[in-house]
Amino acid sequence: MTASSLLGCFLQPAGSTGHTRSVAEPIKRSAQPPPLNGTVITKHKHRASSLAPSLSLTPSVPHPGFSEDRCCSETGELRREREMGRQQQSVCGGAGWWWRAVAWWGAVVLGHLVSHGRAGLLDTNPGLAYNFYRTSCPNAESIVQRVTWAQVAANQALPGRLLRLHFHDCFVKGCDASILLDTAGSEKTAGPNLSVGGYEVIDAVKAQLEQACPGVVSCADVVALAARDAVSYQFKASLWQVETGRRDGPVSSAGNTGSLPSPSAGFGGLVQSFAAKGLDVGDLVALSGAHTIGKASCSSVTPRLYNGNATTVDPLLDSAYAKRLITSCPNPNLTPASPPPASTVDLDAATPFKFDGTYYSNLLNKQGVLASDAALTQNAAAAAMVANLTNSINFYAAFAMSMKKMGRVDVLTLKNGQGKIRTQCRVP
Ligand code: HEM
Repeated sequence: MTASSLLGCFLQPAGSTGHTRSVAEPIKRSAQPPPLNGTVITKHKHRASSLAPSLSLTPSVPHPGFSEDRCCSETGELRREREMGRQQQSVCGGAGWWWRAVAWWGAVVLGHLVSHGRAGLLDTNPGLAYNFYRTSCPNAESIVQRVTWAQVAANQALPGRLLRLHFHDCFVKGCDASILLDTAGSEKTAGPNLSVGGYEVIDAVKAQLEQACPGVVSCADVVALAARDAVSYQFKASLWQVETGRRDGPVSSAGNTGSLPSPSAGFGGLVQSFAAKGLDVGDLVALSGAHTIGKASCSSVTPRLYNGNATTVDPLLDSAYAKRLITSCPNPNLTPASPPPASTVDLDAATPFKFDGTYYSNLLNKQGVLASDAALTQNAAAAAMVANLTNSINFYAAFAMSMKKMGRVDVLTLKNGQGKIRTQCRVP
């Protein structure tokens, strides 16, 4: 059974607007089990404090009672392939529901057992909700998905770009779309943001939303939804749920981007950057898994390969892999006049476009591209999490939880009475 076939049991059908219950509400037991997806985890009031290898929040693979023939593979996977061919979105259904119910409750119970209530800043709902626009703009999420999917279908670089855009938005003055502003000296002009892209997708989505529901949907929510939809395109179903209700901020300054972590940061520096945003080591490890897709400029990699004119390979890099990087990114100090053959490298050389746990296997094989990737193996607890997340299903669950936390960072909402809805995302 492949990870993607099991994933079919977890995914929320595309086009579904998700449950509208706030995370602060208690779990209600319904006769019919809810779909087994990333939201299962988000229903816990507390998340696991660690993702230790033996304590997975979702059924590990293989899972007793969650075998191939019982879930997707026999019926679901075939059906899935058929339906995906018709561009329909479906999760496993039929007789598989009982096993999903068992696994769902297993996940709930296990989640409570392993959690010990880390009440942190981001555990308090700042005024976001699932399907916030259900009455004010009922088609908002399907419009975002439709436009994003159309663009991603034509450009496979977009999932990486849009996911990074969301991260760089949230880490600088919160998830408030400040990264989109075209004002003088804005965040966009800062060094770490020069290689950020995807703005044109946000513009296209926003234009459609303004036609459907003028002045209702925030640019910050568009960024969060488009990141999810772009990554989820390859699954034709949503890989995680996105809370909405963010409002847009008026300030964007390159001077604020110092809060973005450096690719040359060591483990301690990364932990600090994330802690400053209310995110913990588990979030750091899970969210770094975003580097399972996308590219890095050679300039982000060459410090690990050269020191001045000399080739001095970072000992945390596998030597054969380092040779490949050297071929792609020659020493800029030796060949300043001739541009390198490739100006970028894949962050996940093994499966560059697949959103999966291979990034973590790469790390264990000393094939993480950035020094900050390799740093995750330099701390025992983080390394254990890395090993756990090599399993794609564990990765999807952990990523879904941590994206939800990241999506709450310093948000402006009606609840805190801040922000506005921009009609053009580039204009304050
Ligand atoms: C842990 C700290 C992190 C550091 C130091 C870091 C740094 C970087 C750097 C240097 C690049 C390559 C940029 C370039 O050279 O052009 C990159 C790419 C990327 N990052 Fe991160 N990142 C971190 C965490 C994250 C997080 C949390 C996410 C999203 C949740 C993310 C998503 C991405 C994506 C998708 C790309 C590829 C972008 C593309 O293909 O256009 N990163 N990151």
